[in-house]
Amino acid sequence: MFSRFVDRGAAVTPMTFQSLNADLPTGDAVFSGPGSDPVNTNCLACHSAEMVLTQPALPKEKWGEVVHKMINVYKAPIDESDIDPIVAYLSALPTKQ
Ligand code: HEC
Repeated sequence: MFSRFVDRGAAVTPMTFQSLNADLPTGDAVFSGPGSDPVNTNCLACHSAEMVLTQPALPKEKWGEVVHKMINVYKAPIDESDIDPIVAYLSALPTKQ
C-alpha cells in the first residue's frame, strides 16, 4: 500500500507520452478494425489479445482449428454463428513476425 504512494509520487516528473494503444505486451490490447467485434467479445475472456496477436501468420484452416480448440478443449462459449467471422478476421490480421 505504502509503496503505491511512493510510486505515484515518483511518476509526477516528468510527463512523458504513453501509448494508449498498448503496442507493448502489457495485456491491455484489444482487437481493432472492421470485424473485430466478435473477436473482442469471444476471445478476451480467458487471455489477452497478445496471446492471439503474437501468433505467426496462420492460414484460415489453422485459425479454424484454433477457434475450435478454444471451444472444445477450453470450453469457450463461442456461438456457432460467430466462428466464421472470427476466423475471417484472424486470418486477415497483419502479422507481427
Ligand atoms: C474459455 C477460455 C478461452 C476462450 C474464451 C478463448 N481461449 Fe484461447 N486459450 C485458452 C487457454 C486456456 C489457452 C492456453 C493458454 C496457455 O497455453 O497458457 C489458450 C490459448 C490460445 C492461443 C495460443 C495457441 C494455442 O493454440 O494454445 C491462441 C492463438 C488462442 N487461445 C486464441 C483464441 C481465440 C482466437 C479465441 C476466440 C475465438 C480464444 N482463444 C478464446 C482459453 C480460451
